[in-house]
Amino acid sequence: MRRTIGIDIGGTGIKGAIVDIDAGALVSERLKMATPAGARPDDVAAVVAALVAQLDPEGTLPLGVCFPAIIIDEVARSAANVSHEWIDLHVGDLLEKATGRAVHVVNDADAAGYAESQFGAAHGVGGLVMVTTLGTGIGSALIYNGVLIPNAELGHIPLTGTNGRSAEEYAANSVRERKALSFERWAKRLTKFYRTLEALFSPQLFVVGGGVSKQHAEFLHLISVNTPIVPAQHFNNAGILGAAALAPFHHDEA
Ligand code: BGC
Repeated sequence: MRRTIGIDIGGTGIKGAIVDIDAGALVSERLKMATPAGARPDDVAAVVAALVAQLDPEGTLPLGVCFPAIIIDEVARSAANVSHEWIDLHVGDLLEKATGRAVHVVNDADAAGYAESQFGAAHGVGGLVMVTTLGTGIGSALIYNGVLIPNAELGHIPLTGTNGRSAEEYAANSVRERKALSFERWAKRLTKFYRTLEALFSPQLFVVGGGVSKQHAEFLHLISVNTPIVPAQHFNNAGILGAAALAPFHHDEA
């Protein structure tokens, strides 16, 4: 069994575990620490280092990390819901220095999407699968015949009839919470989002992830689209699983 560490950096928490990446399963306890206020790079790196040291004191396991920004060649190229100090920062270098080991960094929704395609709701589904994560923002991953097409930022597409708001400004789970929207009203907003994606991409399947997907029975059936739409199987662990599963790709990149 191949084992790596997966770490999922989010706006409120940083989570991690050791993962059996052949089985797609956590094989250690899942550790979680609060994201330091302001989520500044050095502070976040220190938390990642502490988690990794606790999970793997011998320091032998490869490390995969996912982060809520566009990531190209280990460098962050956006910062929608995190400190702007991350923009253009080489996240891989920062975390390699902090943890003393090779690190592979990917976008958080891409990690979740990869996990769902390898070990979850999209396993074995051909054609285009769109995995979306509903959280503070809206993340998206495109998987075509099992291959991840990275850095789709579909949470930022403008939705018509919303006064120019982007999908995540209009329909993220944080918006539901902030505005105390009922699941019915939130599902109407989500319908606008998923219908737009459907019209643009004609996917085979939508997979809905993020922490709120645990409550899928409350709202998924209220989203009115023609494309099959299913909950993620790994809910909040998908980021950890996907980051860990992608860790070995560190040395394969161009
Ligand atoms: C970011 C994405 C991220 C998503 C979910 C968006 O605001 O732009 O990169 O995947 O939030 O965290």
